Amino acid sequence: MENELIIVLDFGGQYNQLIARRVRECNVYCEVKPYTITIDEIKKLNPKGLIFTGGPNSVYKEDSLHITKDIFELGIPILGICYGSQIMAYTLGGNVEKADVSEYGHTEVNIADKNDIIFNGVDSKTVCWMSHTDYISKTPEGFKITASTANCPIAAMSCECKKLYATQFHPEVVHTKEGTKMLRNFVYDVCGCSGTWKMSSFVSTTIEQLKKKIGNGKVLCALSGGVDSSVAAVLLSKAIGKQLTCVFVDHGLLRKNEGDEVEEVFGPNGHYELNFIRVNAAQRYYDKLKGVEEPEAKRKIIGGEFIRVFEEEAKKIGSVDFLVQGTIYPDVIESGLGKSAVIKSHHNVGGLPDVVDFKEIIEPLRMLFKDEVRKVGLELGIPEKLVYRQPFPGPGLGIRIIGEVTEEKVKIVQEADYIYREEIAKAGIDKSIGQYFAALTNMRSVGVMGDFRTYDYAVALRAVDTSDFMTADATSLPWDILHKTANRIVNEVKGVNRVLYDCTGKPPATIEFE
Ligand code: XMP
Repeated sequence: MENELIIVLDFGGQYNQLIARRVRECNVYCEVKPYTITIDEIKKLNPKGLIFTGGPNSVYKEDSLHITKDIFELGIPILGICYGSQIMAYTLGGNVEKADVSEYGHTEVNIADKNDIIFNGVDSKTVCWMSHTDYISKTPEGFKITASTANCPIAAMSCECKKLYATQFHPEVVHTKEGTKMLRNFVYDVCGCSGTWKMSSFVSTTIEQLKKKIGNGKVLCALSGGVDSSVAAVLLSKAIGKQLTCVFVDHGLLRKNEGDEVEEVFGPNGHYELNFIRVNAAQRYYDKLKGVEEPEAKRKIIGGEFIRVFEEEAKKIGSVDFLVQGTIYPDVIESGLGKSAVIKSHHNVGGLPDVVDFKEIIEPLRMLFKDEVRKVGLELGIPEKLVYRQPFPGPGLGIRIIGEVTEEKVKIVQEADYIYREEIAKAGIDKSIGQYFAALTNMRSVGVMGDFRTYDYAVALRAVDTSDFMTADATSLPWDILHKTANRIVNEVKGVNRVLYDCTGKPPATIEFE
């Protein structure tokens, strides 16, 4: 049976993928498409419903994003959200104007029509998330007002017979208390979906699509051992087997045992059918990094060297048609932000296509959020240990060692980090912290061990709570965990006599140290 599909039409709102994700959480497959999609393309995709997103424009301005009236004649149910609700009103002959009072944030909404399908089971006064400067001042003919707020007389409207619904507020954000219920009502009771979609359907459909796209072509994947590139690699391996080659560059800046763990899963004795190349390039990196202290210079060397090693391997394989990247949705938003200042030059596989000739880049996970990627990973049978692995930056421990990187310092930070991770896991809080790791400060200080003076390094422990990694709070870790970890580190790791905990948030600090 074909999957039931809901299409989100993107009018430039910041929550477009979030809507798709909420619908997928209702077990209905959902994809985001540009608002410029043609009527024929929509018909071909045969969706059960359409959702129009919010957006930054004013519908009554000429240069705003507009749509043809024909879309409302398709007989496909539509839910318009924010700008999406205004474009529905405006296109069908209602009025949209600048509001005297803009509403932003938590707003109490009064449900005017309890029988409206969207509000089935929703409290008559419910808190919703508003973010608008324009408002619908008159509904189009055939529509009734179904909700209002103190400052917005038409907070929701509907035309049941045409299955058209609209909300000025955002049901997709968590701040709208009963938003999921409203979206569920739309996809199930208006669109008639039955909710048969699961992550396993995503897996099987994606594998089929990949097979079709790649044919007999050769595919190359830069595998870092992180969850995103691992999940992408396994999807590809299931689709095309040995046509896939994964190149894993061990730059000597990985966490303890990480290189071997990656090889165990993906290497010749591992679980998957693919070609696996591990390039042990540690010495090459240590040589290049010798004497370099400046963080950006270190990042550039590590990133640049990665590309060179990868390029060498790609040339050996020869005539590769496709490059696989584990890009996920948050990477897409971050790179879309455009003109922000460079805080750090990120190194990941994003830099590759310029240097190696490929026909096309394949990004099978670009629609998914991190936790959805993890679900796909579990679905594919990837070991839990790998699926729930901490985010780990491309330059690895190179940016968790302040100042010059040496082999000795790498060893210290690897051991300290291993102990820290072990203690966090023992306490059962490993899945609840956004990111945690040990770093090596460049500071040495005086200590006493036995009857001897020591002059050794200080290790810094970091743990942060974050949902998007753009901002973060320092985690309030229980003292006994910190205490035990610190004790173990100074006792078990040679060269360390002091352990510090980083209590800084982001901003003003960043998550990594460099
Ligand atoms: P910062 O330190 O900028 O980190 O607050 C935010 C998140 O990004 C990760 N990070 C990187 N990831 N390549 C990556 O793939 C990089 O160069 C890089 N630098 C930082 C960091 O671990 C955190 O999750």
